[in-house]
Amino acid sequence: MPAPHGGRLIDRVVPEPRRGRLREEAEELPRVSVSREKRRDLESVAYGIYSPLEGPLTQGDYRSVLDRGRLSGGVPWTMPIVLDVSEEEASSFEEGDDVAVAEGGEGFAILHVEERYPLDRREYALKVFKTLDLSHPGVARAMEMKPILVGGPIDLFREAPGRFPRYRLKPKETRLLFRERGWRTVAGFQTRNAPHLGHEYVQKTALAFVDGLFINPLIGRKKPGDFRDEVIIEAYEALLRHYYLRETAVLVTLEMEMRYAGPREAIFHAIIRKNFGCTHFIVGRDHAGVGRYYGPYEAQEAFDEYPDLGITPLFFRSFFYCPRCGGVTNERVCPHPAEERIEFSGTGIRDMLMRGEKPPRELMRPEVVDVILRHPDPFVR
Ligand code: ADX
Repeated sequence: MPAPHGGRLIDRVVPEPRRGRLREEAEELPRVSVSREKRRDLESVAYGIYSPLEGPLTQGDYRSVLDRGRLSGGVPWTMPIVLDVSEEEASSFEEGDDVAVAEGGEGFAILHVEERYPLDRREYALKVFKTLDLSHPGVARAMEMKPILVGGPIDLFREAPGRFPRYRLKPKETRLLFRERGWRTVAGFQTRNAPHLGHEYVQKTALAFVDGLFINPLIGRKKPGDFRDEVIIEAYEALLRHYYLRETAVLVTLEMEMRYAGPREAIFHAIIRKNFGCTHFIVGRDHAGVGRYYGPYEAQEAFDEYPDLGITPLFFRSFFYCPRCGGVTNERVCPHPAEERIEFSGTGIRDMLMRGEKPPRELMRPEVVDVILRHPDPFVR
């Protein structure tokens, strides 16, 4: 099992006996308000999912992440995990102060403010997403960020319940689970979708040479047209029940928003799965992509810059159904004409489902289709 990223599993969760006192202390502190998504990010920091981060980035790390995809000490890190606050909020404290962080009026963490610095939204958007196009969902959100960033370690004293509590495990729990199962090699699989056969084939191809599969769907804010979280979970429950061995696959959620940052997000996704204890990470076609902002294999190419990542990427060319082969295959294997292929297009499958049509079993398992069609409103609006 790989060591956590940066060498040590971070734990910024305040032990139960001290929580009450911190809650009271937090009532007296200046306060900053954050979204549900930001709260999930800070929880991920506290649970060690984002090891080695101990809180939102300070300026040196922020600059280094934007400019060279590494923390200032050189450890690979591609996604700026930041805490943005308003001018008014920022004026209520100084560097060196403690600040209460709240969501929906409920304080949940204390931030020990080391630095306060201005955010350049355009630079952030351009470096993270490689575009300033507001039709990119990540850019649109970046442009709504508040103008000041604050960085420093946090202490989490109140945990929000998970959306699907039985599937929400922390890295220290998944590491134990892999050990108990005797898995020496584990492939992590990121997804934001209900599974089609292309997803199943990348997973099962990986499973042919690792001990375990860690299916880790992302639960949280997504763009309109993506599947709703509950549909993804129920679809995977059905798929696992009918088509997987219990001994070799496990389903665990990751409560985090999608950023659609393609190559940068792929590296970030891999680091997260390394912290969960995976030795390998699956990267297929257009990983974490949206529209045509990134090339279909740009996310795979990004790994060239990170020979020191500490988790082995498993690259897959696009899987499709070939009627002549009579099965799911990919371009490294199938010699037949491209025109005859049936591609696993997310949009194509969605359009079919929206019309109430059942995608054929060459594209999606009937049990998964049934789950989706049972939902009156399976897609994010
Ligand atoms: S993502 O935004 O989370 O990457 P999705 O859930 O569709 O989207 O993909 C999960 C993983 O499966 C990604 O690594 C993606 O590249 C891979 N993948 C999806 N479809 C295919 C396919 N047809 N062939 C190969 N890999 C695929």
